[in-house]
Amino acid sequence: MPTRTWFPTCIYHEPLQRNGLEKFNTELADECRNLRDYDAAGRRWSAKNYPGGYTSYASLNQLHKFSSTFTGLERKLTGHVRRFATQLDMDLRGRAVHLTDIWVNIMPEHAAHSLHLHPLSFISGTYYVVTPRGCPGLKFEDPRLSKFMAAPPKTTGARPANRPHITYPAKAGHLILFESWLRHEVAANRMAAERISISFNYNWS
Ligand code: NI
Repeated sequence: MPTRTWFPTCIYHEPLQRNGLEKFNTELADECRNLRDYDAAGRRWSAKNYPGGYTSYASLNQLHKFSSTFTGLERKLTGHVRRFATQLDMDLRGRAVHLTDIWVNIMPEHAAHSLHLHPLSFISGTYYVVTPRGCPGLKFEDPRLSKFMAAPPKTTGARPANRPHITYPAKAGHLILFESWLRHEVAANRMAAERISISFNYNWS
């Protein structure tokens, strides 16, 4: 083939672990809902910045330091992040990867999360706790989109890797990892049930 692919954008998608996910997610879901009930500052912040939903992004974003359930989640996530960094051929200079922030997102019907990226970290991701059938996935944007200038649109039959967006389904028990500069969004939840996820950032130092 005369044409080869370079500079790939990598996205990691795996179940958190092989067994025991149902029990673990039930505990996590309870804790996420309790957190929302307890976190008045987070509810106020969400009313302005996360319409219709709740996020602890600005209020309680160090949950691994306060909750043994989240410390357990951190341990599991870190193994996946190390694996992803290895697959990206990253030389971490003998340093460890570490979780810097971890927060809860609860999206009832109509809640959405507009396009954003995660500054001040190198790998970010989301773990899915409760995902009602038909709830929105995580949509990523081609990071080169702003450079396309006069490029024509893609054909309707374009290969997935050549399309400007890719949406990963939100699947309870699975995590998605990406490099923190990769922009992403979540469309409005059209289901009459809460979608619960936990997002996080990693650094290396
Ligand atoms: Ni995000």
